[in-house]
Amino acid sequence: MTAQKSGTFKIGGELEVHRLGFGAMRITGPGIWGDPTDAEEAKRTLRRVPELGINLIDTADSYGPTVSEELIREVLHPYNGPHGKIVIATKGGLVRPGPDVWVPFGRPDYLIQEAHVSRRRLGVESIDLWQLHRIDPKVPRDEQFSAIKQLLDEGVIRYAGLSEVGVDDIEAARKVFPVATVQNRYNLVDRGSEDVLKYCEANGIGFIPWYPLAAGSLAREGSVLDVIAKKHHAAPSQVALAWVLKRSPVMLPIPGTGKVSHLEENVAATEIELSDEEFWRLDNREA
Ligand SMILES: NC(=O)c1ccc[n+]([C@@H]2O[C@H](COP(=O)([O-])OP(=O)(O)OC[C@H]3O[C@@H](n4cnc5c(N)ncnc54)[C@H](OP(=O)(O)O)[C@@H]3O)[C@@H](O)[C@H]2O)c1
Repeated sequence: MTAQKSGTFKIGGELEVHRLGFGAMRITGPGIWGDPTDAEEAKRTLRRVPELGINLIDTADSYGPTVSEELIREVLHPYNGPHGKIVIATKGGLVRPGPDVWVPFGRPDYLIQEAHVSRRRLGVESIDLWQLHRIDPKVPRDEQFSAIKQLLDEGVIRYAGLSEVGVDDIEAARKVFPVATVQNRYNLVDRGSEDVLKYCEANGIGFIPWYPLAAGSLAREGSVLDVIAKKHHAAPSQVALAWVLKRSPVMLPIPGTGKVSHLEENVAATEIELSDEEFWRLDNREA
């Protein structure tokens, strides 16, 4: 069982990763606030990530806040896995007044400070991939994009991406800096970002779908998803993940968990080979 099976993608045309990554939001406490309830299990999960061939980890300074980045450094620094270098992608642009509360804060000087602090916390010379968590509607977006360009120019970050954006935002950003990745919510039942995915495909931009395991009511007993999952001796969430991976070569899903058994189950989804017909039936959400 290895994430190598998911194939590879070159972030920014250069930084090669296995397409199945790991989301490190769930190694924090309830409400993505504070320390994880079971810290030892969270650390075991992180240790297992590179062993399973995953070399792309997604985090953010706001997860915890700071808890996720700190644990990643404690367990995985200097990020040399058995399958080569582990790419750590982080994000900035949100502040956390409390559990489950996320507030965009995009003042350029603050974004620059956040990237510097994440770099120090992760213990790297240059952050592999830094993503603007949200465009702050209270600040002109070009000012936020210019801060990202400055971070790239100064080598604080190597590649940059955006999160929860539309095609218009990506086009505006690309006038200021090269957009390497886009991270939007996307899964079998939430296809609101199809236009963004197509844009990313056409422009060689990595598309990082968050909440990739969701199958919602499609997972009910007797549904097409349920039948296909049983045929593959798999859980519906594994088939949902296999579908996401097959959907596009620029797709870099980052399922998240704080449990080793769930991590292993998610990586095992790369073993599922959906036929074109199965893919089509799921794609068309046949009941
Ligand atoms: N850019 C953004 O705005 C944004 C927003 C949200 C998330 N993200 C990123 O995307 C990543 C994934 O998103 P997500 O965590 O919302 O969605 P997800 O990975 O689709 O689902 C995670 C949830 O499913 C559970 N889970 C994971 N594997 C499982 C398995 N094999 N069986 C049963 N349950 C399982 C997890 O709980 P357990 O811990 O109990 O396994 C957790 O509650 C995050 O870690 C984060 O890095 C980005």
